[in-house]
Formats: sequence, structure tokens, C-alpha cells
Amino acid sequence: MHPMDGKTALVTGASSGIGRAVAKRFADDGARVYLTGRRKDELEAAAEEAGPGAVAVPCDVSRAADLDHVMDVIRGDGRRLDAVVANAGLGSLAGLADATEEEFDLTFGVNTKGTLLTVQKSLPLLTGTASVILLGSTTIYQGVEGMGLYAASKAAIRSLGRTWAAELAPRGIRVNVITPGPIATPAIARLAEMNGQSTEAFHGALGAQTPLNRMGRPEEVAALAAFLAGPESSFITGAEYFVDGGQLQV
Ligand SMILES: NC(=O)c1ccc[n+]([C@@H]2O[C@H](COP(=O)([O-])OP(=O)(O)OC[C@H]3O[C@@H](n4cnc5c(N)ncnc54)[C@H](OP(=O)(O)O)[C@@H]3O)[C@@H](O)[C@H]2O)c1
Repeated sequence: MHPMDGKTALVTGASSGIGRAVAKRFADDGARVYLTGRRKDELEAAAEEAGPGAVAVPCDVSRAADLDHVMDVIRGDGRRLDAVVANAGLGSLAGLADATEEEFDLTFGVNTKGTLLTVQKSLPLLTGTASVILLGSTTIYQGVEGMGLYAASKAAIRSLGRTWAAELAPRGIRVNVITPGPIATPAIARLAEMNGQSTEAFHGALGAQTPLNRMGRPEEVAALAAFLAGPESSFITGAEYFVDGGQLQV
């Protein structure tokens, strides 16, 4: 027996980084996992890596019609959703003086609207004990120069998590937020490049901000997702869990 045998999960942004690790963990734990992302080849590679229980469904989470299609595929397979991980997200580097409307729309469109659409479109398929997991960020508690749009889009997600936990509690559905600190993913490698640094140097600098003095691994976030998705966390909702090497805790 595996802990998620017979369960069905949706993981958005599963072609890379944290989402990819969560999808693999859920599949390893026995779940049927639907992976979404925009890049078809990357997504199919992630599904293949996750194993036979994984299905790739390309989707842009900022487009309602794309999510309707994802739900149609899951419904068409005769499945309901035991776990939804609204993970797809992106960062932008734009200070107050030079942030553009386009950057605002992209950041909030993918991170905040994408999270809303993912959970909203999942509602009819959620089982009576389903677990919904949202992705926050430690940046919402800090003032990180140039990260204002990203942090604000994630602060909205923390807030939505509380409201949705209240709204979905009568159905027995739990909603929690995972807040990662610095995790070594392709997103961080891109951020290093934008800052004109090597990934290694950037990892060193970010890792040094944590008491554990290192970057986290996507698998360490996936382990928390597995806990929050399963029955061991059955009395936990509206909460926020940090996977940050102690960055905000110590
Ligand atoms: N890494 C960290 O240190 C860190 C820290 C705090 C929070 N987080 C959060 O954790 C989540 C995952 O981040 P990550 O570091 O794993 O980033 P990543 O490696 O860049 O992965 C991001 C994923 O989101 C998908 N995505 C982006 N835009 C999308 C869209 N419009 N529609 C559908 N999918 C989209 C990407 O797939 P496609 O490009 O194929 O669409 C990719 O699979 C994000 O919400 C991020 O904000 C990360």
C-alpha cells in the first residue's frame, strides 16, 4: 500500500521545479496525477519522469478556458480530485519607479488570477475530504527591493487561503498555504541571470540568509505537500507552513 493509492491530484506548474517534484512525489505515493504547464515538451518529460500514474495536460493557468479543458479531461477519465496544488507561478524584477502595466498584469495574472481560476474550476470535482494547497512566498514578509509585484501577488494568495478555508470548510475541504524560502529551481537560476550572477554564487548568497545555511530542495517542499494532501493533516486548514530553512523563524 502507498499513502495515495486510489487518490487523484492536480498539480499546476508541474513542468519544472517545485511543481515537478510535488507531482513525482504524489505519483510515487500511488496517486493518479494530472500535471499542467504551458511547455508541452517539458511537461511530457515531467509526466514521464513521474511514472505511469501521471498525465500531462498543457494549460496556461491565466486562461479560464484552458482550466475548463483540464477539468474536462479529469472528468472524462471518471475522476474526482482529492488534492489540488495551485503551484504555477512566476517572478518579475521591477521596482516601484519602473514597474509596467504589462508586468503587473503578467505577475498577478499568473500568480493570483491563476490560483483563483485553478481552485474555482476544481470546485465541482473536489471530494468531501479534498486538500487544496496554495504556494506563497517568504518575500511577502520582507521588503525585497524589486520584488514588490511578486510579493504582493503572493500576499493576495495568503489572504485567499484563509477565506477559501472558511468557505470550503462546510464541505470538509481543507485549504493551506506552503511558503517556501529559497529553493533551488530553474526560477532561481533565471533570477541569478537577471541579477548578472552565476547560479552557484546566487545560491550561496540566498542560502546564507537561512540558519541552515543552504538552499532548499524541491523534494523538501514536496514532502510537506504530501503531508498536507493526506489524512495525517486532517485537522489543519487555513494554515501556512514554511519550508524556509528557518529564514523567517529564527
Ligand atoms: N523557488 C523558490 O525559491 C520559491 C520560493 C517561494 C515561492 N516559490 C513559488 O513556488 C512555485 C514554483 O516555483 P519554482 O521555483 O518551482 O519555479 P519554476 O521552476 O520556474 O516553475 C514554475 C512552473 O510554473 C509554470 N508556469 C508559469 N507560468 C505559467 C502559466 N501561465 N500557466 C501554467 N503554468 C505556468 C511553469 O511551466 P511552463 O513554463 O511550462 O508554463 C513551471 O512549471 C511558484 O508559485 C513560486 O512563486 C518558489
